[in-house]
Amino acid sequence: MSNHPPSIFLDYAATTPTDPQVIDAMAPYWSAVFGNSDSIHVYGQAAANALEGARETIAGILRCRPVEIVFTGSGTESDNLALRGAAMAARQADRGNHIVTTQIEHRAVGQTVEQLHELFGFETTYVPVDAQGLVDPDDVASAIRADTCLVSVMMANNEVGTTQPVDVIGRICRERNVVFHTDAVQAGGQLPLAMDELDVDLLSLSAHKLYGPKGTGLLFIRRNTPFVSCVTGGGQERGRRAGTVNVAGAVGLAAALELGEQRRETECERVRELRDLLIEGVLNSVPNAQLTGHREYRLSNNASFVFRDVEGESIVVQLDLAGIAVSSGSACTEGEPEPSFVLKAMGIAPEWSIGSLRVSFGQSSTLAEVQRVLEVLPGCVTKLRSFD
Ligand SMILES: Cc1ncc(COP(=O)(O)O)c(C=O)c1O
Repeated sequence: MSNHPPSIFLDYAATTPTDPQVIDAMAPYWSAVFGNSDSIHVYGQAAANALEGARETIAGILRCRPVEIVFTGSGTESDNLALRGAAMAARQADRGNHIVTTQIEHRAVGQTVEQLHELFGFETTYVPVDAQGLVDPDDVASAIRADTCLVSVMMANNEVGTTQPVDVIGRICRERNVVFHTDAVQAGGQLPLAMDELDVDLLSLSAHKLYGPKGTGLLFIRRNTPFVSCVTGGGQERGRRAGTVNVAGAVGLAAALELGEQRRETECERVRELRDLLIEGVLNSVPNAQLTGHREYRLSNNASFVFRDVEGESIVVQLDLAGIAVSSGSACTEGEPEPSFVLKAMGIAPEWSIGSLRVSFGQSSTLAEVQRVLEVLPGCVTKLRSFD
């Protein structure tokens, strides 16, 4: 990596800067209002008031009840809590031993399902995706068995940006009486998250993807969803996630979601234009380049590509040297380029998928930045290809 921080940040799917308004909202809860929200005295009461205020704000945005919001320490923790909580509740009530998920989930879901299989004996079915990374709800319906206790399908993919028909999948799960979890970490601030309209029982969000602080997430748990806590202790969060709650983080997540909701439509429209200009520009200027993910059902801020016969990580390094921060889904393991499992599931051949690149836009992204990428990227790819 270069010694100088890149001046153009186009990796908002990895994380976002905390919004100054969010920082301001959080500020009192580091020192002035520092109480433990479980304490009975006035210090505790002040912290508890802030915590419950944040919960109510979030419930208003997600259109659910405040008690259905559980604060966590990350999107990863929310996914873990959701899957283990639902699986263990099913185990306890002898309500089925089969989990359905997809081949393209984030590892926070994928690894958890794998462990539930390996250590706890749950049976698993991984629903495939098409060449655009789209899940067919009929495949989910066919995968559900009499003993299925849980379905988990992400709302939007982190690598290729494809958005899934979770409304239809949720309806199927509701009809079949199966608990449905969706990882909405990439969808936060980008897609409507109305819990009164979606048949979703469990939903994960992470603050740092939507201009909130790192290390704060939430899990929506619909009332009456069978759930056994896997973080036990002092009984916080109504026994669903023990541990002294990060009040500043909760307040920050609420402020970030509020700002995100206010800005969502205009901001999505703005970055969608930048995204489409970049896609068109890259496909026109780089030979042997393909867009990955769905053309229509995709996040407004995600432009992802594969370039044949070049390593994605090398492109990331070259762009970094040119002052542009982006990412690649493929990684180099022991000197060998390793294609991403998401692209593999989409049926993309290794000579293409090792050359994956993700450019993701956010609030500070500009047309000038798109133009700069288009100036630099074709030369980087040509240079790297010439090394072979
Ligand atoms: C789809 C998805 N799920 C889960 C996570 C994990 O979230 P966190 O970074 O808050 O642990 C991410 C983060 O990249 C993600 O993109």
